[in-house]
Amino acid sequence: MSYIKALGYIGIGAQDLDAWEDFAGDILGLHVTRGRDADDVETLFLRMDARHHRIAVRAGDDTLSYVGWEVATEEDLDAQVRDLESAGVAVKEDPHLADLRGVRRLVRFADPAGFQLELFYGAVTVSCAFVSPTGVRFVTRDGKGNDLGVGHIVLVSSVVDEMVAFYRQILGFKVSDYITFKPLVLTFTHVNPRHHSLAFGPAPDGRKPFIDHFMLEVDSIDGVGRALDRVRAKEISLTATLGRHTNDEMLSFYMKSPSGIGVEYGTAGKLIDDETWTITNWDAAQFWGHDRNHTH
Ligand SMILES: [Fe+2]
Repeated sequence: MSYIKALGYIGIGAQDLDAWEDFAGDILGLHVTRGRDADDVETLFLRMDARHHRIAVRAGDDTLSYVGWEVATEEDLDAQVRDLESAGVAVKEDPHLADLRGVRRLVRFADPAGFQLELFYGAVTVSCAFVSPTGVRFVTRDGKGNDLGVGHIVLVSSVVDEMVAFYRQILGFKVSDYITFKPLVLTFTHVNPRHHSLAFGPAPDGRKPFIDHFMLEVDSIDGVGRALDRVRAKEISLTATLGRHTNDEMLSFYMKSPSGIGVEYGTAGKLIDDETWTITNWDAAQFWGHDRNHTH
């Protein structure tokens, strides 16, 4: 069974919170609230829709700290926990962490690469309207009311087969498609109509698992183009030029966040209808653009 509905939130560590505050607001167009979390650690709460926040940037090492996967109901949370436990995964309910994240209930566990995952339901949703400082609108729902979540993340590890099996067999993720640059294979998976919420890439043995990038989607080409202008004006490091992906058809560019984690900023991502979807194996990641060598 699959209970997970969306990539609900992510947590990032950052050494330079000031740089992150500017980057999140001025470049990404997120609404930033700077404060302290319930553990009294300085934190940026980044808002992109009705949720109190979707991304938390907490003072600490530059890394992906946790990934929050959302289920719709308490019953689904309990059912997913039973599936995890019967597969031998150690799961811990954590009321303090639930408080910290602003969700009604939360359990935590690790995936085969060691990323901290949190399964939750009942996120805090705010009554006042979201207003972006740059005027963008983020795509976190589709036109039919499906929750599409934050965007997507790409996790790189030397245990891709175990990762893909874990997410498919225990957490109910569905394969969207593959991109093969021989011998390298990227595997894309979805939990809602967004083409992928999670993709997997291979790392050489011995390399610590890491997040390659997270993606945020806005609702217009102009939103992407204006962000690209700001990236150039503020001398943010552009890591791939504007381009169009093959598999999800996202029109996007890539940049480096102050934590070193990549950020893809795009629009017009494809939606999947499981009734009609057929898995393909693309021979390239882009139709055009996304040049990683000539970014200046
Ligand atoms: Fe991406």
